[in-house]
Amino acid sequence: MTGQVDSEGNLQTTNPETSGRYHSAWLSMMYPRLFLARQLLTDDGIIFVSIDDREVYNLRLMLNEIFGEENCLQQVVWQRHGGGGNDSKYFATDHEYILSYAKNLHAIDRLRRPLTETEKTAFKQKDDYYETRGPYKTSVFEPMRPDNPAEGLRYEIECPDGTMVYKEWGQKETGFLKLKDEDRIVFRKKQNGEWQVEKKIYLNESKRVPRSLLTKVEKNPKGRRQLREIFDSDGIFSNPKPVGLIKHLLQFSTNSDSIVLDFFAGSCTAAQAVLELNQEDNGNRQYIMVQLPEPTPEKSAGRKAGFETIDEIGKERIRRVCQNFSESSGFRVFKLSPSNYETESNSETDEKPTLFSELEGTLDPLREGWLAEDVLYEIILKEGYPLDSAIQPVKELTTNTVFCITTPNGTQSLHICLDEQLTETDIESLDLSKDSVFICRDIALDDTLAANLALQCRLKTI
Ligand SMILES: C[S@@+](CC[C@H](N)C(=O)[O-])C[C@H]1O[C@@H](n2cnc3c(N)ncnc32)[C@H](O)[C@@H]1O
Repeated sequence: MTGQVDSEGNLQTTNPETSGRYHSAWLSMMYPRLFLARQLLTDDGIIFVSIDDREVYNLRLMLNEIFGEENCLQQVVWQRHGGGGNDSKYFATDHEYILSYAKNLHAIDRLRRPLTETEKTAFKQKDDYYETRGPYKTSVFEPMRPDNPAEGLRYEIECPDGTMVYKEWGQKETGFLKLKDEDRIVFRKKQNGEWQVEKKIYLNESKRVPRSLLTKVEKNPKGRRQLREIFDSDGIFSNPKPVGLIKHLLQFSTNSDSIVLDFFAGSCTAAQAVLELNQEDNGNRQYIMVQLPEPTPEKSAGRKAGFETIDEIGKERIRRVCQNFSESSGFRVFKLSPSNYETESNSETDEKPTLFSELEGTLDPLREGWLAEDVLYEIILKEGYPLDSAIQPVKELTTNTVFCITTPNGTQSLHICLDEQLTETDIESLDLSKDSVFICRDIALDDTLAANLALQCRLKTI
């Protein structure tokens, strides 16, 4: 679609390993995309790039260059297979990498994820704070590094029967007193009669640091099963990532309002992960999936199921997954296409404009066969409105069709009319103010109407 070809004119979507310039071609394809990705990230944004070991070293160098070595968070190892591969000649490769970079390391907080259901089962005890802190478990109040304890850990603690125990503890005395004050310390009598001091750890306050070695998150076969469940057919897309893997990454890298972009979206696992996570933690994350209309391999299960291109698989997956969620989880699909404006869409061709075509251009710049929906979205983009803006036709107009475009947060709006002629009565009933933006076609206005509108509101014409 974007016409990216190598020097021999081959499309760069497929990069045969037999090509002599395999690494070079791959790097040339990735560099502009990653460069742009960095620009699209928020200041506290994080990128994850999943990759196998053929390109991981080149990718790391390239990411170091684009994001800065200091912004590398981790080269995560994800175990994608739990066994099998006995037919491999040398090694069975069980893992892949996920390179993770911050746009700006100083702008991000500590990374923490909520506990998994299995981890939660360890919290079994209840006390008077159950309502707010949830159930708790205890851990022995002793130094984290017994061989090399920090300074100031040795002091005396008085136990319930008045016994004084003098040794090294888990925190300095001020820390201990604060914990005791908040009722977070438990004294337990051991079988040998000695006291054991323990600290309560509450479920509602517990988070986990993400680890660099992922052995327990979902693996490849799970991703395959998940896709099979959705499409009732196996192998629609080869090696889809498991939803749980993407969810795991999102849990510690996003907050409830984050926007998740996957510009190699494939079967759109990431969209499903966002939808599921929102459901689980009441979040409001949004997703943007980008996928080239790359043809599905001939005779593949995807092609046999009627999917000519990969983006069709992704779209259908989102459609099906959305059915399990509330109405607020809708989505819009856009195709990259030439401008609807004659001058811009022609700029790529060699055709010289004739005087007549130029005159015609000044009459109406819209390309022949334009569709209202396409033009509306082009204007929305050009005016800097997000693509998920609300588009509502203004009711109670007699002749004209006017659309009111409102940003998702409802703070800004504009009016667009694409009719060939405007009627004064309809314009008046729009109730435009000095700050209202009204966009219409130049040909729709006569001089008087244009002058009046320009006085009444911020008029823009196409
Ligand atoms: C490994 S898949 C993504 C899988 C996806 N995360 C999933 O689990 O469903 C990578 C995708 O990138 C797309 N792709 C390949 N080369 C590309 C290029 N040069 N530009 C943009 N996308 C490309 C392919 O069409 C493919 O669908």
